[in-house]
Amino acid sequence: MSKIIVLMGAPGAGKGTQARLLQERMKLPQISTGDIFRALSESETPLAKEVRAIQQSGKLISDDLVVRVVEERTGKDDCRHGYVLDGFPRTTVQADMLEQLATRQGNEITAILIDVPPELLYRRLTGRRSCSICGEIYNVYLKPPKIDNCCDLHPKSQLVHRADDAPEKIQVRLETYAQQTTPLLDYYEATNRLRRIDGVQDTEKIYAEIERVVTSE
Ligand code: AP5
Ligand code: MG
Repeated sequence: MSKIIVLMGAPGAGKGTQARLLQERMKLPQISTGDIFRALSESETPLAKEVRAIQQSGKLISDDLVVRVVEERTGKDDCRHGYVLDGFPRTTVQADMLEQLATRQGNEITAILIDVPPELLYRRLTGRRSCSICGEIYNVYLKPPKIDNCCDLHPKSQLVHRADDAPEKIQVRLETYAQQTTPLLDYYEATNRLRRIDGVQDTEKIYAEIERVVTSE
């Protein structure tokens, strides 16, 4: 049976950082709904504009649309042996859909919470920068690139600062997470599928713990 690894955690907890490592090292495709919608929002269609406005506000995109995108993406060939969900599910409707999807695909769900106290999240988010070419994630305070504002792997590209990483948007995102997404932690805990990992350790220690969960169950 293949596995669906659901990486959970507040905005800035390190879901993207860890999902990228799982993809690189364990060859598990990283499916980040945030990244998918940020890419979609770059065009100028009415849908793209709508998605951009919602993402920039810090609120959630409609369950309908998110569910459609996840169904389509996880139906691709590279997901046959399991995959990592980063930023999905975020509501009970999405969690229900994932149960059905997992049953249909013959997959088992393991949720991993990267646990970081709220007071550390602002620095992680306001300092975050990412490469517009490869998506590598940096932080001006905590993981600076070798050359200011340039990706270590793509020195010609400028690093990007996300519009929703502005302090007032961070507040909305944290509230949205507390209201809509934290109930899912109880749901996965009650069904004995939640593993909690201390997200205040360094990236490699967190990765080692996640890898242990992924390979041991
Ligand atoms: P999304 O892109 O998923 O954003 P998020 O959940 O707010 O999470 P982030 O990407 O901000 O944080 P992360 O946990 O990935 O942290 P990262 O690894 O980058 O969603 C954005 C928006 O899209 C939503 O608000 C919504 O509008 C929409 N959306 C997406 N999915 C949706 C869904 N399912 N339903 C509805 N709407 C949806 O790390 C953060 C920083 O910390 C980095 O600078 C990094 O270098 C640093 N860092 C990471 N780990 C460590 C460490 N161990 N120590 C020190 N620093 C660290
Ligand atoms: Mg992310």
